Amino acid sequence: MKVLISGGAGFIGSLTALRLSEQGHEVTVLDNLAPPGHAAVPELPAGVRLVQGDVRNRDDWVAALEGAEVILHLADHHDYLPAFSKLFQVNAVGTALLCELLVDRKTLVRRLVVGSSLAVYGEGRYRCPQDGEVFPEPRPAEALDRGAWEPLCPRCAGPLAPLTTDETATRPSSVYGLSKLAQEEIACLVGPRHGIETIVLRYGVVQGGSQPFQNAYYGALRIFALRLALDRPIVLFEDGNQLRDFVDVDDVARANVLAIGPLAPGVYNVASGRANAVSELARILLRVAERDGTPETPGLYRLGDPRHVIADVTRLKAAGWEPKQNLEGTVRDYWQWLREQPNLDSYFEGADHLMERTGTVRVAR
Ligand SMILES: NC(=O)c1ccc[n+]([C@@H]2O[C@H](COP(=O)([O-])OP(=O)(O)OC[C@H]3O[C@@H](n4cnc5c(N)ncnc54)[C@H](O)[C@@H]3O)[C@@H](O)[C@H]2O)c1
Repeated sequence: MKVLISGGAGFIGSLTALRLSEQGHEVTVLDNLAPPGHAAVPELPAGVRLVQGDVRNRDDWVAALEGAEVILHLADHHDYLPAFSKLFQVNAVGTALLCELLVDRKTLVRRLVVGSSLAVYGEGRYRCPQDGEVFPEPRPAEALDRGAWEPLCPRCAGPLAPLTTDETATRPSSVYGLSKLAQEEIACLVGPRHGIETIVLRYGVVQGGSQPFQNAYYGALRIFALRLALDRPIVLFEDGNQLRDFVDVDDVARANVLAIGPLAPGVYNVASGRANAVSELARILLRVAERDGTPETPGLYRLGDPRHVIADVTRLKAAGWEPKQNLEGTVRDYWQWLREQPNLDSYFEGADHLMERTGTVRVAR
């Protein structure tokens, strides 16, 4: 099969390109090699064709689409900085442009797989002892400034317990999440109308493999590991007790391969279905790295972050997929890989400074 992977030089895309090539698929990558993840032109698996171009550019899509039967659309801009228009230009308009070409031109494309995110759920689903299942609003800055981290019941303002969130209700709490939802919706509206099988994969927090350490804006494991490798303390947002659904990049690449075919069209969460506190991730890393020390919790927070995110992965499991790697294995693999990398530098300093200066990261008083 001829597969086009947009963003295929990135973290998830390059491993998926490798897995597909190993299975005999003919892979083309469309990628603009955007910084900060790309310090140099990456090595792609043998036989993979690279079209260096931008998903906002019609001619670049046309060049990359040549002969493609399936598209895995992973290129995106993801950021917590207030680059709101760029999020929509790359994620939503880039996808709309692709859809225009799929409709306008006679392409061979019969399947479109869009890589999305659990960010489309915002706070997701919780249980209130009094009011049952609820979907709380994003936490207000005023509460976070007081260090009141837990969301409250939208009906009785009482405490809540987090639940897993399935694919049904989307309520993004960040502009990034909104842009990913817009991207999904364009693809799901246009694709099926034009005979293109359309699949949306909503990934959890993807970690492991060779996740580029040069991008220190997000990605707990890579930032914690880089800090540790440079003998700096791990710094946690909030109180570190926020729950996340961490999934290994190898498991995500297997889900992508399944989505190329034979997975049925639809929307699927791709995550572990397990809840781990961010502080637990830090503890596992300290143990694996054989370091002492306690992570710092200076009360930093990012406005728009959900408190807890745990996915219900029943739908993808019913299609035969299982997450195989556990969190400790992911951490071990990443630490080993990072320790072998030359040119480790304190990329987090510039990122931290910019996020504080732009009000992206704030401090509770
Ligand atoms: N990594 C995660 O934890 C995570 C979580 C949820 C969803 N996702 C989704 O998975 C997809 C891949 O993410 P990743 O972690 O591999 O990120 P990544 O940054 O490693 O890869 C994205 C690739 O897209 C390319 N790109 C960026 N802007 C482009 C543009 N305008 N034109 C062409 N190429 C462009 C980059 O150069 C990069 O190689 C994204 O759509 C992202 O939203 C990732």
